[in-house]
Amino acid sequence: MKGKAVAALRRAIVMGLCTWLGTAAAQAPAARPWSDAALSPDARAKLLLAQLTQDEKFQLIRSYYAGPDRPPNKPFPQGAIESAGYVPAIARLGIPALEESDAGLGVASSDRMRPGDHATPLPAGPVTAASWDPQVAYRGGAMIGGEAHHKGFNVLLAGGINLMREPRNGRNFEYAGEDPLLAGSIVGEAIRGVQSAHVISTIKHFALNDQETARDTISAQIGEQAVRESDLLAFELAIERGQPGAVMCSYNKVNGDWACENDYLMNQVLKRDWGYPGFVMSDWGGVHSAAKAVNAGLDQESAGEIFDKEVYFDAPLREALATGEVKQSRIDDMVQRILRSMFAAGVFEHPARPAPIDEAANLAVARETLEAGAVLLRNEHELLPLDVDKLASLAVIGAHADKGVLAGGGSSLVTAKGGNAVPGLAPTGWPGPVMYHPYAPLKALRAMAPKADVQFAEGNDIAAAAALAARSQVAVVFVQKWAAESVDAPDLSLPDNQDALVAAVARANPRTIVVLENGGPVAMPWLDQVGAVLETWYPGGDAGTAMAHLLSGQVNPSGRLPLSWPRDLSQLPRKALPGAGGGTPPASVDYTIEGADVGYRWYQSRGLQPLFPFGYGLSYTRFQHGPLTLATHGGRLQATVEVSNTGSRAGADVAQVYVQVPGAKARRLAGYAKVFLKPGEHRVLTIPLERRLLADFDVARHGWVVRGGQYSVFEGRSSEQLGTPVQVQLPASTL
Ligand code: GLC
Repeated sequence: MKGKAVAALRRAIVMGLCTWLGTAAAQAPAARPWSDAALSPDARAKLLLAQLTQDEKFQLIRSYYAGPDRPPNKPFPQGAIESAGYVPAIARLGIPALEESDAGLGVASSDRMRPGDHATPLPAGPVTAASWDPQVAYRGGAMIGGEAHHKGFNVLLAGGINLMREPRNGRNFEYAGEDPLLAGSIVGEAIRGVQSAHVISTIKHFALNDQETARDTISAQIGEQAVRESDLLAFELAIERGQPGAVMCSYNKVNGDWACENDYLMNQVLKRDWGYPGFVMSDWGGVHSAAKAVNAGLDQESAGEIFDKEVYFDAPLREALATGEVKQSRIDDMVQRILRSMFAAGVFEHPARPAPIDEAANLAVARETLEAGAVLLRNEHELLPLDVDKLASLAVIGAHADKGVLAGGGSSLVTAKGGNAVPGLAPTGWPGPVMYHPYAPLKALRAMAPKADVQFAEGNDIAAAAALAARSQVAVVFVQKWAAESVDAPDLSLPDNQDALVAAVARANPRTIVVLENGGPVAMPWLDQVGAVLETWYPGGDAGTAMAHLLSGQVNPSGRLPLSWPRDLSQLPRKALPGAGGGTPPASVDYTIEGADVGYRWYQSRGLQPLFPFGYGLSYTRFQHGPLTLATHGGRLQATVEVSNTGSRAGADVAQVYVQVPGAKARRLAGYAKVFLKPGEHRVLTIPLERRLLADFDVARHGWVVRGGQYSVFEGRSSEQLGTPVQVQLPASTL
């Protein structure tokens, strides 16, 4: 009995001790040395990591879905703001919750998520990219980051940067076009802007999620050199510039391995080669394993309880830890990365909480983004700008321009103040609703030309629209093409018989202006029949005012295309989009066809002429570019060119510098600068060239190599309008 009693007593003591220790460990520690903001984010994270229990560590490496449309057995996570994701706080240690909102064009909500909430919508991503102005990108990021913070969010799932390999991709409107240097600089600055508001930004979707069809099963096939010189270079440049706290790995596979368990992408490239210190979160439903994903570099499972087959980063991961398949040191590394990104963004010191939002100021940021990024594609006989003082009558036609402007669909959708100006358009369910932001061009055009008789005709009655055009001095036709996450366009055509509408209006009145509200390039069979075409993509907040400013010349368009505009599908690397039209989804999409020659590099390498080239855009004034000179400064090649405004209006031009490496047919954008000039003004621009565009990625050496030889450097106003090249002899070198 005695022995048993002693044993029982010993067990009681051990249990009590464990409980006490456990409680002690779970007690709030006396001091919080990680609160010392003088320490580096990594040092602070290390101090805090040491305090965490295992359960607390497991709490941090997964988020909960905080959205609507959830199964009854999956309760809404307590404490979350209704949004995309939520990681509960650890009050004992002062670790705030992570409140994660979509997305890159503003703080997303919908009629299903936070009904009645609203935010300021930026224009589509290509508009910011088309500004060729990193400061515009920064201001846009800072604006949406600020709104997120003032709504209580400290993570914004922004930073969409997938290159436009596929003009029909339904999510091109969220991204920044086809070129790694332009996309990398623009999205990098947008991320920097978001994080200036003490909100962690993601960069996404890592990597090669370049079409939506079969996005969660398809494998993107590509060689290492090609992917390093294209999609991954865009991420590399943006991560260097913006230092996003998190990378979101994508749904698709890359060369057969899921992106969210792809050791090459996450461990070898992102964390080893680039030294990325932050964390990788999955896309919502992108996790397919525990040990493989964790050992491949995934740090946080997003919303697994709803979107994954099971919550891999709970029991299966604990099991993998117990069997030694996953080491404790890796779990600690995951947590370290999450905490250091929280410290780096200032999430602890600057807690996100509801605060007033300066909606007028934020709307101005959206408006100015469109004014900087709208692209004037055609302007025959200087139809534009309109002389509003002499304008007697103006026909405004189509695309619900009497009510608002179109937005793209899916998780990035923002509900603007005033809600949907045209509710009820199909699809109303995912990836809808089809949203028109209530910034009506008609109202703004009437304000722009108060003396004119400005009438509206919806485009569905073509005869009536043509008749209105015939009796008006000028006609402006708004055309639209809705695009959305999870679907791709079957072709480049405008829907709803809009081509017939434009043709009829142009026949009735040759002084016809077309304004495009679209997600990507569209076919324009009527192009030669119209006087002018202005590309505004999904034009965002206060778009009507911006359009009026642009059409009246109050603002001189200065956008340049961030993408190549194909004449037709035959010009593309893939005439048919893999998986389009339904049926069994294709196992893979072959990006080895073009490799790194995405967009204009594809056209140039095959001697094709797109309808409009990358970098193209007209102005209401004229610019002269002087001869290009080259110099080496600090080991870096830099281009110098003088740009003059030889016209009668102030405006901005973009000096674009392209490099042709020995033996290549295609040229590569290696640097650019936008300059605003008054009439008669001129400016000498010095543009540093990004060395990685002079180099090839050498797979054998696993690094960037300048092959050496004679390089041709061009400067001009687009990828096709280039001056006399300057030859430069470069020695072979490694970067
Ligand atoms: C979506 C998107 C991603 C978004 C996430 C949360 O499926 O792919 O961009 O941030 O899920 O909504």
